[in-house]
Amino acid sequence: MKNVLVIGSTGQIGSELTMKLRGIYGNANVVAGYIKGAEPKGELLESGPAEEVDITNAQQIADAVRKHKVDTIYNLAALLSAVAEAKPLLAWKIGIGGLMNTLEVARELKCAVFTPSSIGSFGPNAPKDGTPQDTIQQPRTMYGVTKVSGELLSNYYALKFGVDTRSVRFPGLISYVTPPGGGTTDYAVDIYYSAVKGEKFICPIKQGTFMDMMYMPDALRAAIEIMEANPERLIHRNSFNIASMSFDPEIIYNKIKEYVPGFEMVYDVDPLRQGIADSWPNRLDDTCARMEWDWKPEYDLDAMTRDMLDKLRIKFGKS
Ligand code: SER
Repeated sequence: MKNVLVIGSTGQIGSELTMKLRGIYGNANVVAGYIKGAEPKGELLESGPAEEVDITNAQQIADAVRKHKVDTIYNLAALLSAVAEAKPLLAWKIGIGGLMNTLEVARELKCAVFTPSSIGSFGPNAPKDGTPQDTIQQPRTMYGVTKVSGELLSNYYALKFGVDTRSVRFPGLISYVTPPGGGTTDYAVDIYYSAVKGEKFICPIKQGTFMDMMYMPDALRAAIEIMEANPERLIHRNSFNIASMSFDPEIIYNKIKEYVPGFEMVYDVDPLRQGIADSWPNRLDDTCARMEWDWKPEYDLDAMTRDMLDKLRIKFGKS
């Protein structure tokens, strides 16, 4: 990787990944791609190049790749699961139409491509605990349908055209920087905000609903390490299970209470998000990622909770 384009650089993952990539490959070598209405600001804007790159516009992708001699594209444009259920056509247009544009540009201009998949690529027919790397993927959400189709399309471009496509199946991502929007796992971010602001947390997901989660620093490292991995060791490409922690709302609530003793939580279950969560795995088996490219998470629930609370207290002037 020398010259990188991040499509979706101002989103939940992009805003942090772009800065981390700039730290590794040099500010001038990482282009922040954005869409109108979500322009980069502050450090993201000032530290390196930025281009308008709407993933539904293949020409804009190709222009940015040519102009900046890009060799690696991080394709982070997507609608999260609950939003995709409300806007399925747009989710397909961005998730699959956009991916097809990206893969075609990558084929022509010889770029490697990273496109995140998700725990949402599995459905109710997959084993729930220790969900294997290779198993039934029959998601019942539009988000999942785009993710599993994206995995297949990316593998097709690797096999048929030799495009270096790689990817990981992200769990719910937790960060204090850019809040997610419209995901099923978002409650595990929102709960920290409530704890630090001194508010009661209203949990939209039922007690006993387990999902994989990951602290953002581990997720960013995974996205970079998979693209740097020795291709000769890779048996899989799109997409690797990765995991670091799995919990239900009670477990994260009780963990936060260890550090914020008066913290209160009540349930008001959102049927849409609950239905999505019920169809997803409880805990993925990430053995293949560990064996093929030495994946290893650094944060567990306790380490993440201490860091989230510290950073959010600083953010909200509560330290
Ligand atoms: N965080 C995503 C969502 O909840 C899952 O990949 O939609």
